[in-house]
Amino acid sequence: MGGAPVETTRVGIVGAGPAGLLLSHLLHLSGIDSVVLDARTREEIEATHRAGILEPGAVAALVDGGVSDRVLRDGDRHDGIVLRFDGEDHRIDLKALTGRSVWLYPQQDVFADLADRRAADGGDVRFGATVTEVLEPDSRRPGVRFVDADGAARELRCDLLVGADGSRSACRRALPTEESRLLFHEYPYAWFGIIAQAPRSTDELVYTESEHGFALVSQRNATHQRHYFQCDPATDATDWDDERIWAELQRRVAGPDGFALREGPIVERSVLRFRSLVVEPVRHGRMLLVGDAAHTVPPTGAKGLNLAFADVQVLHDVVGRWLRTGDDDVLNDYRHRAGERVWRAQHFSSWMSAMLHARPGEEPFERRRRLAELRMVAESEHGRAFLAEGYTGWDTPPVAGP
Ligand code: PHB
Repeated sequence: MGGAPVETTRVGIVGAGPAGLLLSHLLHLSGIDSVVLDARTREEIEATHRAGILEPGAVAALVDGGVSDRVLRDGDRHDGIVLRFDGEDHRIDLKALTGRSVWLYPQQDVFADLADRRAADGGDVRFGATVTEVLEPDSRRPGVRFVDADGAARELRCDLLVGADGSRSACRRALPTEESRLLFHEYPYAWFGIIAQAPRSTDELVYTESEHGFALVSQRNATHQRHYFQCDPATDATDWDDERIWAELQRRVAGPDGFALREGPIVERSVLRFRSLVVEPVRHGRMLLVGDAAHTVPPTGAKGLNLAFADVQVLHDVVGRWLRTGDDDVLNDYRHRAGERVWRAQHFSSWMSAMLHARPGEEPFERRRRLAELRMVAESEHGRAFLAEGYTGWDTPPVAGP
């Protein structure tokens, strides 16, 4: 075989979303080379709307990690969230309960900050580079075949291959089926998400339970707002015009207090599926998965990016120790240290989802039970603290060995 030109690097990273770029940035700070490949263009990634809430740990990764402090200037610190049910607001004071706040800062901005930082530092990030094959993940020289942005076939070989390639991960498909399990749950509801050109309706996020279904009032900035409402997973977003969407949102947030959303033209609309997925184990030889490639959470609670960043911080640490010791067993520490948090986030996301959403055909008994649960969470200090701890995120367990 004539073969494609072969390049080499220390850590090959598939996926230039926030997880792949943060890993590449942290490795760079530690003097470890990496190459990042992503099939999408930078513009395509920047146009993808994802959640917008950062836990304090994710903010620290950006600010203290030297990526950018733009989140502190352009983002909004939120010291609380609101649970709305029976038409009334119940505020959860995150700051008073945990000493921690969250930040509203859209994932596109996180991505842009990371992509700019990598570019400024001369990082090797290749957009428009499509991986066609994962090569020998359990060898000492794993790699990928890919087609670069100019359509040329190439090969990358590395010491460690990291799949940061999202929920439809090509790296995940290269795991041997007899060794790895996919634990999967699909929910019988979805979110209809919109971006509206409108002023803010509320200062904090409002998670609303109503007899017409769940709605979430979120924000983006002074001129654009993000809202969601529960819908059937088979909903076609193009079937819904602005008038119908606003009417649906308004009736869900309505209450005796007369609250109403401030309306405006809807500039984005899409349906988000609700899925939970965990891959176990996330390591095969010298290939590891991070972020959505390793686990997916439903959007309630906005854990996806936060979890991905936590993975990457652990992995960065583990890679440093692995290179110092030369012992492949060290790579298992990643799974042990990141895994517990993954399951906490799975529980938290599915708990919040189940508490706030009606399943199709829900019996009146079950709705009353959910309302009792919401009331217990909102009215008990311990209930509020449990929600606040999960919402603001958990600390990562410390390093096990030397
Ligand atoms: C968002 O603003 O996109 C968002 C916020 C909170 C969530 C999910 C999504 O729980």
